[in-house]
Amino acid sequence: MQRIAVFASGTGSNFQCLLDAEASGMFRGSKAYGKIALLVTDKPACGAVAKAQAASIPVAAFSPQSFPAKAEYEQAILQVLKEKQIDWIVLAGYMRLIGSDILQAYSQRMINLHPSLLPAFSGKDAIGQAFQAGVKVTGVTVHFVDEGMDTGPILAQQPVTVLQEDTLESLTARIHGVEHELLPKVVASILQYRVVIEGRKVYLRKDESIG
Ligand code: GAR
Repeated sequence: MQRIAVFASGTGSNFQCLLDAEASGMFRGSKAYGKIALLVTDKPACGAVAKAQAASIPVAAFSPQSFPAKAEYEQAILQVLKEKQIDWIVLAGYMRLIGSDILQAYSQRMINLHPSLLPAFSGKDAIGQAFQAGVKVTGVTVHFVDEGMDTGPILAQQPVTVLQEDTLESLTARIHGVEHELLPKVVASILQYRVVIEGRKVYLRKDESIG
């Protein structure tokens, strides 16, 4: 079994999709079985927490402001990840840069969802940035996490066409719809297949399932 922690700071619609995907059997591969075992949040009152509670998923909620520095905040998270024997981290709307201790402990075991076609429009408000820039195509990226802001090796991308009649709201809704489909599919594949990262390139070795 592969135990997954989801990190979220917001409404948690992507977290909910991951819970639904697990319930539907999507994370039950031929060998590896994925289980969402923990929600980690920096916003104890956020929507994702209510969704975790409704699904009886343990929650680790820490306010960064109550720690002297980021290192101590992340040590508190690492402690819970260890207790819960977490194998994989999925950042689903977690709006903080991951520090070196968590990065080291989960090197090549942590993925992030981002609402643009990276490397375009990294950072906050990616959908608004793309809308303002007037691009005709934007999209969704799932990538491995490294020390940069949305800079790690890319696992999957899906384009979304910006329509002439789009408002920021309608574009946001379509991007979220794509995220809700793509993220569970990517999580299912990394559980099912061996991931090989060579420089910037990511390969899923479909002939060598992981145990
Ligand atoms: C998602 O659109 C996700 O791509 C974005 O936050 C939203 C969370 O929505 N993440 C980032 O912008 C990270 N840079 P949700 O709380 O409803 O899942």
